[in-house]
Amino acid sequence: MTILNPWSWLRCLLSALALCGGLAMAQTLPDQAHDQTLGVVNCASSLCHGSIAGWDGSPVVQNEYVVWSRLDKHARAYALLTNAQSRSIAAKLGLPQPAHLSRECVDCHAHHPAASAPKPAPAHSVADGISCEGCHGPAQRWIASHTAPEATHASNIRDGLYPVDQPLARAKLCLSCHFGSSEKYVSHRIMAAGHPRMSFEMETFTNLQPAHFKVDDDYIRRKGNIDGVRIWAIGQAVAVSTQIDILLDPQRGRDGAFPELTLFDCHACHHPMADTRWKPRTAFGKAISPGLVRLNASSMLMLRLILAEIDAPMASRFSNAVLALNEAVAGKGDMRARALDVKALSDEAARMIAVRGLSREQLRSMALALVDDGLSGAYPDYAGAEQAAMALGSVVNTLHKLGQLKSGAALNKGLASIRDVLRYDEAYKPAEFQERLRGFRPLVATPLATR
Ligand code: HEC
Ligand code: HEC
Ligand code: HEC
Ligand code: HEC
Repeated sequence: MTILNPWSWLRCLLSALALCGGLAMAQTLPDQAHDQTLGVVNCASSLCHGSIAGWDGSPVVQNEYVVWSRLDKHARAYALLTNAQSRSIAAKLGLPQPAHLSRECVDCHAHHPAASAPKPAPAHSVADGISCEGCHGPAQRWIASHTAPEATHASNIRDGLYPVDQPLARAKLCLSCHFGSSEKYVSHRIMAAGHPRMSFEMETFTNLQPAHFKVDDDYIRRKGNIDGVRIWAIGQAVAVSTQIDILLDPQRGRDGAFPELTLFDCHACHHPMADTRWKPRTAFGKAISPGLVRLNASSMLMLRLILAEIDAPMASRFSNAVLALNEAVAGKGDMRARALDVKALSDEAARMIAVRGLSREQLRSMALALVDDGLSGAYPDYAGAEQAAMALGSVVNTLHKLGQLKSGAALNKGLASIRDVLRYDEAYKPAEFQERLRGFRPLVATPLATR
C-alpha cells in the first residue's frame, strides 16, 4: 500500500505544504517569475551540465545539456517557427510579424519571460528554444548557491528553482504550453491555420521526453519517490482545472459570438453529416440532447475513474458537477457557477492524490475499470479513447513494475494493438477500440495467483 498513514499525512501538511501540493501554494511559472533569466550557456559547461558521458559519483548525471541539445525537441522548438508550416500558419492568420517574431508563437516555443519579468541577461536567446530555465526557473538567485555543499533541494526551491519534480507543479508547467493558459493559447483559429491538435498526458510525455535525470536511490533520497500513476492522475486533475480556467477566461474563452471551440470535442463538429453518430452519452449520468457541441470530456472521464477508486462520494459529486456544467453550456443554468464547481472538485482531487497516492489494489481495479468502461461504451469519442489508452499504458506499466502483472511482452503487444486503432483521429471507430479492449481484458483481469 502506498497510502500514507494519518501521521505522515499530517506531518506532510505541516512541514511541506509547498512540496505536498496545494495549487494555491504552487510557485510562479518560470516565464512569469520575478528573477532574471541568465541563459543556457551558464548551464552548459563541461564541468556543470555539459559533460558528454556523465560523471561517476555526482548526484546528477551532468550530461543534461548534451541530452537536451541533441535529443530533446524542446531545444529545437524555436527553430520550428521559421519552417514552412509555421510561415504558412502565420500568413493564414495574418500576423503582422513572422511566427518567430510573434509573441503568439514564441511564448510557447521558447523560454520567453513575460514583459513584467526582469529583462533577461544578454547571454539568453529565444533561439535556444525551451531552455533549462524554461522548466527549472530563472537562475538569478539559485545559480551560485545550488552547487554549494550545503545546498538542498528545498534551499534551491527557496532561491527560485521551479519544483518540477513535484507532480502538481510539473503538471502546471507542462500544461501551460501543452494545453495553454490565460497568457498563451493555441486557439481554434491557430489550429485551423495549420497548428497540430494538442494532445498531452503527463506521465506518457514525461517518459517520451529524453531523460536527462535518473530516478535512483540517491534521487529518491533527495526528492522522494513519486510513482508514474500519481503523475498521471494529478496530470488529469490539473488538465480539467486548466480547461475550466480557459472556459472562464473572458478573453481566451470566447471568440466573437462563440465560445473557444478547442474546449469542445473536435469531432462533435468535424464529421460528415451523412455519418450520423449521435447516441446517448451517459458517462456522467444523464445523456445530453442531440445537436449540442460537447465539451472535450477526455480528462474529466479519467478523473471520474480515478475518483471512483479513491473517494466514491466525491466521484459522484464530480459526475453531477460535470453533467450540470454540460447542461449550463447548453443554456440550462449558470455556466460560470457550474464551471467553478467542476474546478473546485478537480483542484481538491489534485491535492488529495498528491498526498495520498494510490494503492496497488486501487491500481488493479482501475486498470480493469478502464477496460470495462470502454467495453460498456464510455469512449464513443476519439479524445476520450485516446486518454483512456494512455491511461491504460501508465497504469499497466506501473502494475508491471510492482510485480502485479506478469508477461510484459503480452502487455506491450496488447497496448500496441489498442494504440493502433487510434492512429488517425478521423478514422476512429469505437467498435474497433472495444474489440481491442476485449482482447486485452484477460491480461489485467486474471487474479495474479492463477497466472
Ligand atoms: C500554448 C502553447 C503554444 C502556442 C501559443 C503555439 N504553439 Fe506551436 N506547438 C506547441 C506544442 C506543445 C506543440 C507540440 C504538439 C505535440 O507534438 O504534442 C506545438 C507544435 C507546433 C508545430 C508542429 C511541430 C512538429 O514537430 O511538427 C508547429 C509548426 C508549431 N507548433 C507552430 C506554431 C506557430 C506558428 C505558433 C503561433 C501562431 C504556435 N505554434 C503557437 C505549443 C504552442
Ligand atoms: C521541458 C522541461 C525541461 C527542460 C527544458 C529541462 N529540464 Fe531538467 N528536468 C526536467 C524534469 C521534468 C526533471 C525531473 C524532475 C526533477 O528532478 O526536478 C528534470 C531534472 C533535472 C535535473 C535533476 C536531476 C536530479 O538527479 O536531481 C537536472 C540537474 C536538470 N534537470 C538539468 C537540466 C539542464 C541543465 C537543462 C538544460 C540543458 C534542463 N534540465 C532542461 C524538465 C526539464
Ligand atoms: C515553454 C513551453 C513548454 C513547456 C514548459 C513544456 N513544453 Fe514540451 N513542448 C513544447 C513545444 C513547443 C513542443 C514541440 C516541439 C517540436 O515538436 O519539435 C514540445 C514537445 C514536447 C515533447 C515531444 C512531443 C512529440 O510529439 O514528440 C514532449 C515529450 C514534451 N514536450 C514533454 C514535456 C513535458 C513532460 C513538460 C513538462 C515537464 C513539457 N514538455 C514542458 C513546449 C513546452
Ligand atoms: C463547434 C464546432 C467546432 C469544434 C468543436 C471544432 N471545430 Fe474546427 N472548425 C469548425 C468550423 C466551423 C471551421 C471552419 C470551417 C470552414 O472554414 O469551412 C473549422 C475549421 C477547422 C480547421 C480548418 C479546416 C479547413 O478546411 O481549413 C481545422 C484544422 C480545425 N477546425 C480543427 C479543429 C480541432 C483540432 C478541434 C478540436 C480541438 C476543432 N476544430 C473543434 C468548427 C468546429
